[in-house]
Amino acid sequence: MRFSSLHVAALGLGFAASAAAQDSTFEPPDFNVTLALIDQGVNVSALPELDSLTKRSSLSACSIACDTLRILFGSSNVIEQGNQGYTAFTNAYWSVQQENIDPYCIFKPTSATQVSISILLSRLTQCPFAAKSGGHAAFAGASNIQGGITMSLEKLNTIKLSSDKKTADIGPGNTWFNVYTALQPAGVTVIGGRVSPIGVGGLTTGGGISFFSNIYGWACDNVVSYEVVTASGVIVTASATQNKDLFFALRGGGNNFGIVTKFTLNAIPLPGGLMWGGGRVILEDQFDAVVDAFYNVGVNSPQDPNAAQILSFAYAQSADLNLAAADLQYAQPVANAPIFSEYLSIPAISDTTKVRTLADLTQEFNASNPDGLRETYWAATYKLNKNHTASVRDIFFEELDSIKDAAGLVPAATLQVITEGQLAAMTQNGGNPLGLSASAGPFLLLNMNMMWTNAADDTRILQANKRIIDRTVALAQSMGLYEDYIYMNYASQFQDVIASYGSTNKAKLKSTAAKYDPTGVFQTLQPGYFKLNGPPSPSGP
Ligand SMILES: Cc1cc2nc3c(=O)[nH]c(=O)nc-3n(C[C@H](O)[C@H](O)[C@H](O)COP(=O)(O)OP(=O)(O)OC[C@H]3O[C@@H](n4cnc5c(N)ncnc54)[C@H](O)[C@@H]3O)c2cc1C
Ligand SMILES: *[C@@H]1O[C@H](CO)[C@@H](O)[C@H](O)[C@H]1NC(C)=O
Ligand SMILES: *[C@@H]1O[C@H](CO)[C@@H](O)[C@H](O)[C@H]1NC(C)=O
Ligand SMILES: *[C@@H]1O[C@H](CO)[C@@H](O)[C@H](O)[C@H]1NC(C)=O
Ligand SMILES: *[C@@H]1O[C@H](CO)[C@@H](O)[C@H](O)[C@H]1NC(C)=O
Repeated sequence: MRFSSLHVAALGLGFAASAAAQDSTFEPPDFNVTLALIDQGVNVSALPELDSLTKRSSLSACSIACDTLRILFGSSNVIEQGNQGYTAFTNAYWSVQQENIDPYCIFKPTSATQVSISILLSRLTQCPFAAKSGGHAAFAGASNIQGGITMSLEKLNTIKLSSDKKTADIGPGNTWFNVYTALQPAGVTVIGGRVSPIGVGGLTTGGGISFFSNIYGWACDNVVSYEVVTASGVIVTASATQNKDLFFALRGGGNNFGIVTKFTLNAIPLPGGLMWGGGRVILEDQFDAVVDAFYNVGVNSPQDPNAAQILSFAYAQSADLNLAAADLQYAQPVANAPIFSEYLSIPAISDTTKVRTLADLTQEFNASNPDGLRETYWAATYKLNKNHTASVRDIFFEELDSIKDAAGLVPAATLQVITEGQLAAMTQNGGNPLGLSASAGPFLLLNMNMMWTNAADDTRILQANKRIIDRTVALAQSMGLYEDYIYMNYASQFQDVIASYGSTNKAKLKSTAAKYDPTGVFQTLQPGYFKLNGPPSPSGP
């Protein structure tokens, strides 16, 4: 390659950017990307393609940006279309909709500095980018980008427990399975995802509900500090004492502020990694009893916050059966805790509950969430009320009628309670931007989720999901139960997540973005996922 001899020279300038631009104007109006790249060790005028960039058409922007990344960081870290490893990479997304996106190149940075250089090269060339952690966001373009740079964070995979075992540094390239498995020998864990291959990055920046959240709160409320690469390429720490506004924004604000290259998380004790959990599958004649048990475990949570639950109403297409799956967990290796007695008295046609490790439980969930299918996720929140919960179930089954013949359909209405304990923990560290008030809770959180096989069924399936959300929300409004909060990690591309945080929080997030990213790099050059001014597909399915 004609640039290869420049590799060393271009990187030979030293790395001085982290300390720069720490004054009151985070990114000055006359910010010069070329000079910022020089600060990061990349001399643009030594790279002929970049040097003549202004003379080229914008179509070649990503070709230039990707070539430059390859020259700087080698072809093992930069994979262009048609090259070995490209298809294996895109095929590894969870949903087919994300697999079907073809980036110009895949970049696998090995350090925060490399992330910084990639962002600056995107700014210089105007080549758009996306960042991928675990790749489990369902809709197209959430963590992959057509014709742009998909930055896969997989090589930022630190897992390092502090010597006092109070915190752990975790890279965004990890899955929760890696994290739990690595921490288990030390008898600790962190607040993270419940299904093994979910990424640390997406789950934690959007909220993060764990098996332990009734005791400790959500993942975002257990972040001690973030290492973040900002739009100007400057690498900062956001914590309760440094860049507090950014710390607040990142605890649920998603990908709007920077790319997190390291999370320092609270570590919690979990001797041997052991807990109790599993799923009980229940037939339709017990559905009212199931709603009663769900409601009671939810409202009684403060009496035993070790207990957690996820209740899914579902349809087994091959057997033409409506079912409920009650997934129950206990944060200690104790079987059949008294708080679950109502659930346990309901006859089950199968039961996998047992004392097991956290990592093992996340693998059981993985088996029921295979990749390679079309997927949609939707979210809504309401004040918890037993009658309304039963109506959510009934509305789900009613709307299912029009789509239950869709090939390969696996539909579920998954219910969780945002408990008093979870809400109380949201006030630590000065609060988060989600806008959930403890005094209005507990809440019912609905996650509509469906898998299917044929693209021809997309529209009717998405529309059925929208009707379920709209009808359950309208009913909640009529019952005085509506809560205007849409959980980012479960939301569809049609739902305005940031607006649902409330106008005060939205305004705070926008002013924080204006400070750290005044030109809106994370709004426009990184167009995927939930933006400050709206969702990716505001007009609906
Ligand atoms: C099977 C399954 C199980 C789930 N279980 C849970 C659960 O137990 N609890 C829960 O709360 N949620 C759960 N979710 C929802 C999950 O939190 C979201 O899908 C989340 O977005 C997945 O994160 P990811 O890193 O795998 O996804 P990705 O698709 O890689 O990322 C999602 C978004 O986050 C951005 N992002 C990722 N990393 C970073 C970073 N380091 N800095 C800035 N932005 C970043 C990406 O750019 C993208 O826009 C589950 C989802 C699925 C499909
Ligand atoms: C940025 O700095 C470089 C190097 O000093 C200079 O050539 C270029 O004109 C500057 N760009 C802008 C937009 O000011
Ligand atoms: C960048 O490269 C050009 C061309 O090779 C050279 O003239 C210039 O001195 C270099 N700049 C820096 C800051 O090293
Ligand atoms: C989760 O299941 C998929 C199969 O759908 C498998 O490829 C993957 O390795 C599993 N993940 C983990 C972390 O075990
Ligand atoms: C629930 O519905 C039942 C029967 O329709 C009614 O008697 C009861 O008052 C309702 N409870 C609440 C909390 O709305």
